[in-house]
Amino acid sequence: MKEIKIGLIGFGTVGSGLAEVLMDQQERLARRSSLSIRLARVADINIKELPPRFKDVELTNDAEDLFNDPDIDIVVELIGGIEPAKTFMLKAIAAGKHVVTANKALISQEGWEIFSAAAEKGVEVGFEASVGGGIPVIKALKEGLVANRIASIMGIMNGTANYILTRMTREGAPFAEVLRDAQELGFAEADPTYDIEGIDTAHKLAILITMSYGMKIGLDEITIEGITNIEPIDIQFAREFGYRIKLLAISRNHGDHVEARVHPTMVPESHLLASINGAYNAIHFSGDAVGNVLLYGQGAGKMPTGSAVAADVVDIARNITAGSINRVPALSYLPEEITSRGITPMNELECPYYFRISARDEPGVLAAVSGILSKHDISIESVIQKGRKESGPVSIVMRTHGARENEVRQALDEID
Ligand code: HSE
Repeated sequence: MKEIKIGLIGFGTVGSGLAEVLMDQQERLARRSSLSIRLARVADINIKELPPRFKDVELTNDAEDLFNDPDIDIVVELIGGIEPAKTFMLKAIAAGKHVVTANKALISQEGWEIFSAAAEKGVEVGFEASVGGGIPVIKALKEGLVANRIASIMGIMNGTANYILTRMTREGAPFAEVLRDAQELGFAEADPTYDIEGIDTAHKLAILITMSYGMKIGLDEITIEGITNIEPIDIQFAREFGYRIKLLAISRNHGDHVEARVHPTMVPESHLLASINGAYNAIHFSGDAVGNVLLYGQGAGKMPTGSAVAADVVDIARNITAGSINRVPALSYLPEEITSRGITPMNELECPYYFRISARDEPGVLAAVSGILSKHDISIESVIQKGRKESGPVSIVMRTHGARENEVRQALDEID
């Protein structure tokens, strides 16, 4: 039986998850690939030794050892961040190794350099774990949905943000406390700003947009708003209107231009995405042939993400044995077919809005607010004001009919 040797950079949460999956599933993988896939070396600067069950795996604190080892077939980068991850990937590729990563920041921002270097060297780049943790969404796009024009992508793609919103919804728990728990559970990024400010979700959306529509997109072209301004009171009001607040990535394909945005969204309770809770992710595609597809699963964490990385390793190992490297284009489209397209300006979008306004409880306040809204052609669908206060502000909450973002921004400035 042919042996495929793996070199792993980074034995943190996901790295140790991959090591465990490869060890636990060794026999099953052999039965499914007629290959023996073995973790041969680990490079990590933070640990002195590997757990006893990995006694046959060599530990080094120098990633170069992996690139220089002629027996290593696939290098897996699981340290995250741009540098030194990018340098490691490029060095591994230059040494003729296939590479696998879970690094969405790197793939979404510096992917072109990595994919071109890999194409030149005739090696593969696997990045299944970069979007949706354990959900096989990259493979679904490259293979299962290959015969579709994808019209839209919509999803919950950050486990940490979804976990925080879920607990705020269920318990009315404060944001900061829930964030701490998420970090302890190991699914928040090293810098949680990326999770709560929507940046991690935008990295993932950029990857899916490129693969779905065959287009280049920069992170700066995505409108991004996180969840840090959401208070338990917003969640309560949303409930009363029959909605759940979710951090959604949304993209619609209009042909010559596409929508690309990440923001908190009020999702109707009856919608499937409203019931995606905790660290779970769900990604919805609409394809012209297949119709609607929803992929659901654990979007973060040691074993689910380890499972996705292992899937890439097995795919590449199978391709090495079959002599069919890059049979499936890494980004689903041939590189020369990936074009530039326009992005729909946010202020041209029309959708219903939710406002919470703090105002003094006096005659004429609501009339003044609705006067400003009407001037901007914003029509109110419903209003709630609860209680009465002699002094200090009360919350007035409104839902609007479809309104344009630029009109909304101007109206809010005037109301302020
Ligand atoms: N920090 C990410 C999340 C991990 O919470 O979803 C997986 O990308």
